[in-house]
Amino acid sequence: MDKFRIKGGRRLEGRVQISGAKNSALPCMAATLLTPETVTLHNLPYVRDIITMRRLLEDLGSTVLMPELRTLKISAAKVEFFEAPYDLVKTMRASVLALGPLLARFGEARVSMPGGCAIGQRPIDLHLSGFEKLGAEVTLEGGDVVARARRLQGREIYFDKVTVTGTENLMMAASLAEGRTSLINAACEPEVIDLAELLNKMGARIEGAGRSTITIEGVKELGGAEHTIIPDRIETGTFVAAAAITGGALDIVNCCPQHITAVIDKLRETGIEIEQPNAFSLSVRAKDKIRPSNVTTLPYPGFPTDMQAQYMALMTLAGGTSTINETIFENRFMHASELLRMGARIRISGHQAVVEGNTRLTGARLLASDLRASASLVLAGLAAEGETVIDRVYHIDRGYEKIEEKLRSVGAEIERFRN
Ligand code: EPZ
Repeated sequence: MDKFRIKGGRRLEGRVQISGAKNSALPCMAATLLTPETVTLHNLPYVRDIITMRRLLEDLGSTVLMPELRTLKISAAKVEFFEAPYDLVKTMRASVLALGPLLARFGEARVSMPGGCAIGQRPIDLHLSGFEKLGAEVTLEGGDVVARARRLQGREIYFDKVTVTGTENLMMAASLAEGRTSLINAACEPEVIDLAELLNKMGARIEGAGRSTITIEGVKELGGAEHTIIPDRIETGTFVAAAAITGGALDIVNCCPQHITAVIDKLRETGIEIEQPNAFSLSVRAKDKIRPSNVTTLPYPGFPTDMQAQYMALMTLAGGTSTINETIFENRFMHASELLRMGARIRISGHQAVVEGNTRLTGARLLASDLRASASLVLAGLAAEGETVIDRVYHIDRGYEKIEEKLRSVGAEIERFRN
């Protein structure tokens, strides 16, 4: 299994290019199941989850061509299987995004029920109750979710909780339903907007994406399209935090600052200087000692839960105590126990972490537990004295494209090795 070895204490300085957003690429790839025509997606990140989603589409019968790196031409003309198998779903829960398109286009779908994961139980009850409201019959058979429907009927669907992939799954299913569907209390994430833009290019009639009520007028069929995936806002925030935690200065390009205003505002509060030279780049400079600032994770446009672990690593170096409230997932402090082993002082109680600052992090052997926790450990390793070795970096490869190469290009001493 690959590991990272990091020698801490280097200031990061230089220019980093952001890749496409994994959490937009995944639903957009699933959306190609809605039409027999070819959909071309550009600016896909070269990360493990995209490779897994490609395998899923091919297992279902889609043809996937890669005319160039980060571009896929996908045709679901020959899809004849409607099942996402357990061995794929267990490695990537976003496989559930195949449910809505398969159900809408073929009237049936079988997807292994995703189990929980490191950050929480992560049920999909809101996805399934949404499909039932559209007229599908949903049963659980041998650990698989089986959904069947002759023709989905548009309905008003209220989400008890804001769910990103739940909103995306229902938006895709409703695109081919008969009549109008309203999604109320929908997720407003930029990735939802990006998916809606692709679907509308394919002929869907979606309005309101990015607001808490989305309306979809069902159409009979959808066609091909070409679409460029938005930049990854969490990768962007991770590199902003990397500049901050190493006392460095980074120019971050090919990003979308307006997608991470909550992160930018919060990091400015901690004393980081963040300029926005244009709509696609950020200039980040750590000036003085990092100041502590409390944070609560919230659905978009609030502070993203996917930046919580990275922020916690930064707060260990702040000149005082800060509290971090995680309101989205029930178990998303796994990184804290690893940071403690580096000398951090963090107290967890329920959904709240109290982080004492003014600590000196020292390198240690660490174990990555999930995608964003891994990023947090890399950041801490960059700032720690001495050497840090992080095991199970396959977690980080799921959502960051060649992170060690990008970090090395701006002065980090980090290498990937296997033993
Ligand atoms: C998406 O996950 C992202 N993944 C996650 O990013 C992200 O952390 C999360 O949204 C929140 O922003 C993708 O987009 C592929 P949710 P998702 O449904 O859709 C509960 C990363 O690091 N819930 O918005 O699975 C759920 O348990 C990943 O890139 C239900 O109770 O998250 C959670 O507490 C990690 N029932 C809350 O809602 C449901 O049917 C939000 O979950 C669905 C969700």
